[in-house]
Amino acid sequence: MFPSSTVAVPVSASVPRHVAIIMDGNGRWATSRRLPRVAGHARGVEAVRTIVEACAKSGVEFLTLFAFSSENWRRPVEEVSVLMRLFISALEREVEQLHANGIRLRVVGDLGAFEPRLQALIRQSESRTVTNQRMTLTVAANYGGRWDILQATRSALRAHPELVSRPEQLDESMLTPHLAMAYAPEPDLFIRTGGEQRVSNFLLWQLAYTELHFTDRFWPDFDDKALEAAFDWYRQRERRFGQTSGQVAAQAAG
Ligand code: IPE
Ligand code: IPE
Ligand code: MG
Repeated sequence: MFPSSTVAVPVSASVPRHVAIIMDGNGRWATSRRLPRVAGHARGVEAVRTIVEACAKSGVEFLTLFAFSSENWRRPVEEVSVLMRLFISALEREVEQLHANGIRLRVVGDLGAFEPRLQALIRQSESRTVTNQRMTLTVAANYGGRWDILQATRSALRAHPELVSRPEQLDESMLTPHLAMAYAPEPDLFIRTGGEQRVSNFLLWQLAYTELHFTDRFWPDFDDKALEAAFDWYRQRERRFGQTSGQVAAQAAG
């Protein structure tokens, strides 16, 4: 179990331990080049490869990528089906390389909505890489922060049926083990590419004290230099977790 940022003040290192990214702007990247939107999604997969490698090299322990939100089903069916096909082909092509690089793959979200072939591929890819320890790459697919909080609540109630008659006993430590990413600490750094400054139903619970970095660059153009710039920005933040600046300085001085 990782400490909760609202229960105790976490220690933060100069390299973010957990980076969570909303990979946005694929469509606009393509449209600005007079290409079909799906060309942007294909280029987005290339950027994923670059950023996974760069994060592993920098010593990031957990990298979480938002690939498909619970609201992305609202898109035209053709675009959704291209995204599903890209997801399948990326898993088929990349898992051996991830494994060779010591990366453990996890996929979180309401996976039951995917076609059985994709569900099976996800399970195979996870079990192929399950023993790897260098970095955990989580892909959030058909994920929504509200879905996660609801499913965790249902599952906590199943584990603690006494809560129904004693709801005042419900605390964080009973709920958070049931969140989809209970195996990871809360993100230190959130990055959203593509210029929008919103969370779009990503990790709502876990972002409580995450540093939020927004860049106008479209996801297919997000490279290791842009990642380094985000890390530099992160190093300059004073993470106070509700305390005063003076308290933080005193702790840093030991
Ligand atoms: C992000 O890029 C990829 C997914 C949501 C799957 P978009 O497709 O949202 O690109 P824009 O925001 O329309 O440019
Ligand atoms: C968020 O991007 C979801 C992913 C990147 C997977 P969207 O493009 O779907 O977000 P909105 O609709 O602009 O908020
Ligand atoms: Mg978008």
